[in-house]
Amino acid sequence: MLRWWPVIAVFDSGLGGLGVLRAMTGAFQDEVVVYAADRANAPYGTRSLQEVRDLTHRHARRLIEEGATTIVLACNTASAAALETLRQEYPATTFVGMEPALKPAAMATKTNTVAVIATAATFQGRLFASLMDRFAEGLEVLTAAAPQWVELVEVGEVAGVDARAAVTRQLAPLLDQGADTFVLGCTHFTFLSDVIAQVIGDESTLIDPAPAVARRARDVHIDSGATPLLRALVSGDASQFEELSKTVAGISFPDGVLPL
Ligand code: DGL
Repeated sequence: MLRWWPVIAVFDSGLGGLGVLRAMTGAFQDEVVVYAADRANAPYGTRSLQEVRDLTHRHARRLIEEGATTIVLACNTASAAALETLRQEYPATTFVGMEPALKPAAMATKTNTVAVIATAATFQGRLFASLMDRFAEGLEVLTAAAPQWVELVEVGEVAGVDARAAVTRQLAPLLDQGADTFVLGCTHFTFLSDVIAQVIGDESTLIDPAPAVARRARDVHIDSGATPLLRALVSGDASQFEELSKTVAGISFPDGVLPL
């Protein structure tokens, strides 16, 4: 194990977790951070929960072998499929997971109708069922899977006509059904939030959990005092990832992009 290798790892299927990483910026000034993206196997959201669990476990093992003591699953889908089993298998590692922010949505809605936009796999997981049990009583919860939004973000199409058309197509029926609060249940969607905000208008509320997850990561992580370092581990095309992480999230990796 290399001593200077990651202490905190942020994992996603692709670019989505960069929104969480961006929200963490400045929190780990004396820290080693690695961003891991399994782009070769993305999207995760249209896979079975078992497939996502296997992939997430495989990459978590690799990150732990490389020295990660905290792993942020900056991916609702990976959290839905594997957060519980990872915590069982690696009790010495701290895992920070994500779930659609239904509780704040329930508090924000005035029409008593909230919409959760996530991936199909996230909706199938036990985590979402338990959220519904705890926070959806007396509330109308509309769910929508948006695989096309993930695809758009993965190619850096976050502001053009295609993005606007895809967002409008998905949200119009939810607005028609009275939703006034929209939960981003997939980290990729944070990069579409300007377009989403335009489509839903000022009267609606948009809930993006990335900053809350970044805060949680800061709270649970113990600073190791290691040399500052920011690098990425990526499956698939590394140079394309480097380019997109700059244009989509404004993040560059001064300490390199290596294969995951
Ligand atoms: N970013 C992931 C999430 O938060 C999913 C994207 C994908 O389908 O790979 O759910």
